[in-house]
Amino acid sequence: MMKKLFTYKTLITPIVIAHFSLTLNAQTSMPRLDIKNKSAQLIVDDKPFIVLGGELGNSSASDMKYMEPHLDKFTSMHLNTIITPVYWELMEPTEGKFDFTLVDNMINTAQQHQLKLVLLWFGSWKNSMSCYAPAWVKTNTQRFPRAINDAGRKVEILSAFSQNNLEADCKAFTALMKHLKQTDKQHTVIMVQVENEIGMLQAARERTRVADSLFNSNVPTELMNYLIAKKDSLVPELKQHWSATNFTTTGTWENVFGKSLTTDEIFQAYYYAKYTNKVAEAGKKEYALPMYVNAALNHRNVKPGEYPSAGPLPQVMDVWQAAAPAIDILSPDFYNPRFKWYCDLYTRRNNPLFIPEIGRDASNAAKVFYAIGHYHGFGFSPFSIESVTQPTEEPVGKSYEVIAQLAPEIAKHTGSNSMDGVLLDSTNQEQELIFGDYKLTAKHDYTLGWSPGAKQPNWPHSGAIIIEEGPGEFIVAGTGIVITFQLTNNATQSAGILQADEGIYKNGQWIPGRRMNGDQDHQGRHIRIAVGDWGIQKVKLYKY
Ligand code: DGJ
Repeated sequence: MMKKLFTYKTLITPIVIAHFSLTLNAQTSMPRLDIKNKSAQLIVDDKPFIVLGGELGNSSASDMKYMEPHLDKFTSMHLNTIITPVYWELMEPTEGKFDFTLVDNMINTAQQHQLKLVLLWFGSWKNSMSCYAPAWVKTNTQRFPRAINDAGRKVEILSAFSQNNLEADCKAFTALMKHLKQTDKQHTVIMVQVENEIGMLQAARERTRVADSLFNSNVPTELMNYLIAKKDSLVPELKQHWSATNFTTTGTWENVFGKSLTTDEIFQAYYYAKYTNKVAEAGKKEYALPMYVNAALNHRNVKPGEYPSAGPLPQVMDVWQAAAPAIDILSPDFYNPRFKWYCDLYTRRNNPLFIPEIGRDASNAAKVFYAIGHYHGFGFSPFSIESVTQPTEEPVGKSYEVIAQLAPEIAKHTGSNSMDGVLLDSTNQEQELIFGDYKLTAKHDYTLGWSPGAKQPNWPHSGAIIIEEGPGEFIVAGTGIVITFQLTNNATQSAGILQADEGIYKNGQWIPGRRMNGDQDHQGRHIRIAVGDWGIQKVKLYKY
């Protein structure tokens, strides 16, 4: 009897259980967003994560052989994340038959290169159009109706008012999210973009029969109640537009908002948002990764419909937030020089800043410091990143190297007043920052006039993240800046540099390098990181 009690099975079970629970404990929880005041932290593998990303060109991820020669570039540029499309037409070439080969290959490749992925769901809409819908959708316009433009013609844009379109998209997206849940045990995929740059063209709103009939019906109570409840905090563009009808709260869209293209855009935005919300909701039911939508920013003096109308644009943020609660973030795509302007607009309504696309440009090296430092954004990602030809020289890569080191410090200060950013160029040469008793004046390096480059009319952008570690103690990280220090109340006392060190962070630990005195701090007058240099310095001030 005794012998039987100690069988191989009884002995091995506790070991197996112990091992299994160790493995379980070692597994990290799934990526999520933690809202911190007005900003958010993306939590990946149980730690705050800043997306130092690059988005692939549209067709690059459809052929892994094409991608192969580019893969090493990502490490050279210090990327931690690749933002990559998932193409509906290639994932569901035949209705109901899914092929995840490309998705799986991308995940494996990312893992081999210690990269995370953000997936772009190229579903119903891609830059307004529906070019990634499978052939069985495209060719059956009876079953999968198209939007109709102002001229009464069908366009190559799936209608947002069709249940069939919505169901087909939801089924495919659900299958994708289910597949990720089953296969991506290491949480390589950290976030998903739903659709791409949604927006109606050739009309501010769709002109299908269903759309017309809804447009002539009452504004849905759900939206009306939301707008009434949030009236005081609505974005000023929407509030002003609504004020023209003296904030009418009942009736058709034109009764409530007046007759105009703006009203058409608000209407279309509501139905785009509802549709996208359904897709996101269906996907999250399977696997609730953070999800966002992106917008093509309109240029000035262009009418809705000439620019992609009704996407997640600043003027309709409230409508998108009301109708799409399953979408966590509304994101700007920057192919537009008005960086601060649009970041200011997108950080209203408690919307955290995540920049999934920005045109490749040397100024990105400075803009990424500002996006993180000033707006407490959690991600940045130049477009067509695999096209960089000299990855070790790529300016944004040098900024990523600095930010990656600083990430634990950034995490500590996200959502608080102890972190800010600077973005300077030839027209904005100077910026003031106040931290407690100290006023910091950050100037473009070329204001010193020492560099031959200073004579050129267009200076390279420069930027920095500044963190107040304690009273009079700062971390300055960036490129192309000079900082001087004063006391906010400087009637009787001044601020001096007690000590300044350059250094690096290794696994979160500060390793000081040179003491930056003498010429490096202009004999105690300033902290400088020259144009063409990237670095981190720690400075301690004193009062005299
Ligand atoms: C923005 C889109 O989101 C991308 O997919 C790509 O088409 C770029 N524009 C091209 O500039």
